[in-house]
Amino acid sequence: MEPLLFYRHMSIHAAIEEKGRSALNQIEVSSDLEALDAVRVSVLGKKGSLSEALKQLGQVPPEERPKLGALANEWKAKIETAIEARKEILAAAQIEADLIRTRVDVTLPSRKIHLGSLHPITRTIRKVSDTLGRLGFDVTTGPEVETDFMNFEAVNIPKDHPARDMQDTFFLGPGVVLRSQTSPVQMRTMREKKWPVRILCPGAVYRCDSDATHSPMFHQIEGLWVDKKVSMSDLKGVLDFFAKELFGSHVKIRLRPSYFPFVEPGAEVDVSCALCAGRNPHCQVCKGTGWLEILGAGMVHPRLFELAGYDPSEISGFAFGMGVERIAMLLHDIPDLRLMFQGDQRFLKQF
Ligand code: PHE
Repeated sequence: MEPLLFYRHMSIHAAIEEKGRSALNQIEVSSDLEALDAVRVSVLGKKGSLSEALKQLGQVPPEERPKLGALANEWKAKIETAIEARKEILAAAQIEADLIRTRVDVTLPSRKIHLGSLHPITRTIRKVSDTLGRLGFDVTTGPEVETDFMNFEAVNIPKDHPARDMQDTFFLGPGVVLRSQTSPVQMRTMREKKWPVRILCPGAVYRCDSDATHSPMFHQIEGLWVDKKVSMSDLKGVLDFFAKELFGSHVKIRLRPSYFPFVEPGAEVDVSCALCAGRNPHCQVCKGTGWLEILGAGMVHPRLFELAGYDPSEISGFAFGMGVERIAMLLHDIPDLRLMFQGDQRFLKQF
């Protein structure tokens, strides 16, 4: 056996000293925690060099053994202390290295966070609802797939009425249409509850039409106020407030006589051009006319009250309907209606 041969040539005392010194040296040069642990195992482990040296004690005379045992323990303690000390240094170096490796440069510009924003149509519906909400209008809704009866007949547009041609309707089946206006919600509301009624109804409507100012799907907001003694001047007051809140206190409104089957009298309502107020004959927005049409309105036709089960001699009311896209285009200077339906980020990001 090699160790026996070896120890015969030098005293066990010298062997312990030699193993101990060599261990201290290895500990000192170990470059990481793993290497350090390998040294510990190779010296102090069951089969380690110091343990092997101690196994030779059986061969020395008994009176020598305590001295050699004490010497071995002394070295063992020295080596353990050295390992602990080295371990601390290496662990600290390790942490330092990790910190450098994973360092974050806080001076670098941060990554951009992409926040969504509300679509101009949603914004406009909310703005109109908030504005008229302050006058007591409640928001309500109705179905987009509507009966022919509700969309037309119940709002005084019978089958053979020429006004049906004003709205190129999508027919889904016999007696079923995609609503071409939000006016049927007037009738639905009145049939559901007794007056007084003061509602706003925003929603999508459909007409077979498509160009820079028309889309087959667009949005309207319907307004309806029914109570005792509601008059045309109330309508004018509400619309004047509405126009000033939306477009600025300097704008005016004007009512032009017009025809809608569900109102009598009926009017188209213009707001004065917020940009040029009629002073610029070349104005891009009003085309030099000084006025922009924003909605249709009028006094609710008595026929609708009858169909709703209201008594027309007891009450009166007004209704108005506006195109949301048109209002949004005026509010935000949007040149083409189609921009609102293309989902183009470059457009939407501006809101
Ligand atoms: N429903 C009409 C349209 O779509 C607008 C309107 C509503 C007119 C209420 C008068 C009263 O053109």
